[in-house]
Amino acid sequence: MSKEKNPSPYEEFNMEIPQEEFPEGSISARAAKSIVDSAMWTDANPMLNLSSFVTTYMEPEARELMHEHVHINYVDHDMYPKTYAMEQIMVKWLHDLWNGPKDKEPYGAATVGSSEACMLAGLAHKWNWREKRKAEGKDASNPNMVTGGNVQIVWKKFMRYFDVEDKIIPLKPGNYRLTAEHLDEYVDENTICVVAIAGQTFTGEDDDIQEIHDWLDAYEEKTGISIPLHIDGASGGFVNPFLYPDYEWDFRLPRVASINASGHKFGLVYPGLGWIIFREKSLFNEGLIFYVNYLGGESATATLNFSRNAAQIIAQAYKFIRHGREGYTSIMQQTVDNAEYLRDLLVKSDYFEIMNETQRIPVVALTLKDNVNNFNEFDVSAKVREKGWVLSAYTMPPNAEEITSLRIVVRAHLNRTVIRNLAKDIVDACDYLKENGGNAKPPKLHKHSAGKC
Ligand SMILES: Cc1ncc(COP(=O)(O)O)c(C=O)c1O
Repeated sequence: MSKEKNPSPYEEFNMEIPQEEFPEGSISARAAKSIVDSAMWTDANPMLNLSSFVTTYMEPEARELMHEHVHINYVDHDMYPKTYAMEQIMVKWLHDLWNGPKDKEPYGAATVGSSEACMLAGLAHKWNWREKRKAEGKDASNPNMVTGGNVQIVWKKFMRYFDVEDKIIPLKPGNYRLTAEHLDEYVDENTICVVAIAGQTFTGEDDDIQEIHDWLDAYEEKTGISIPLHIDGASGGFVNPFLYPDYEWDFRLPRVASINASGHKFGLVYPGLGWIIFREKSLFNEGLIFYVNYLGGESATATLNFSRNAAQIIAQAYKFIRHGREGYTSIMQQTVDNAEYLRDLLVKSDYFEIMNETQRIPVVALTLKDNVNNFNEFDVSAKVREKGWVLSAYTMPPNAEEITSLRIVVRAHLNRTVIRNLAKDIVDACDYLKENGGNAKPPKLHKHSAGKC
């Protein structure tokens, strides 16, 4: 590793990782593994990292399957046609799960995460809008997207990276969901789509999808302008269909043109998987599809990313087949029950108020009560970190910045006993802080930062 070559077998385990220059010599596999492993020892324990929505437990059979497929390059459809076929079957399953019209050919793709899925949806809507405007002989140089201040950072990235004006409706303290209230000030003929969220990052709530949908219907009636609705179901996409089958948040609403979800959140697969599904194939603009022949045979590619391993896609097939609707329903029910149990224990402690009015996905979003004045949510997060727990503390986006939240994502691997221990550790931390005071300051955010995923 250092410039000196051929260290003794003992020395090589003690080598420092060079910080600036490319490693020079070679060392044994065992030493390299040990050095790389140990470099990360002080990272958080993923099981205790409840600031994240991302799956941290999979069964041994799933892990085995992932290991077996990790060297398959998913994009090489010509060499691995069965892997591609499996992805296409899952696209149909998701179209079915999200109540896509039976008489329309579904279209969609596995992506690296919801972020890539959102970008593809945004691009499709931008291209469709531009084509339509040009066909009507209208100006197509100022596309915009309308969404709420509760959007995850991916949408701000999309708008900036792809030159779409951001029309973000600010939140207000006490209401952290997008409703139809201010749409008339933001939506216009240049709006490529409105994005509403199912399972938002900050409080876990759904935007008022039905109300937004109906407002857009009325807008079309009034102006003749038809604007599609995209649902960001990064988290809700794998909870709503199982727990609230009668709740119409999906393709049952005719204006919903596309939905994304994270396979690696409540899809229950390790990180590296998202899904984008369109209501029907014609909505994915043909101009976004490229045909390449350099892997042998001609294949179509229409994702932002090209090469990737197939492990997560195969693992998702395992999860869908292993659990089915029945299994996902009981896993999600148990997880939401555990979130409610945690929420109730924390509310009972009298330190916290709940921020989410509705409890759809298993997220507990809390804020300290007004009478707590010698410590804050950042102190609580720092104090419970001493026990290993990682809980997000953050300030809400504009115009609700004065509200600070403590967010706990309850995931499927947590059981009742763990939840009870967590609640006790949080309340003990508050007792300690009440006695001794806290001194944490909210970390300074860059202008365009947003909550974690
Ligand atoms: C509502 C929402 N949309 C999009 C994303 C981005 O998803 P991913 O991390 O899968 O790229 C997240 C991540 O938390 C999210 O919560």
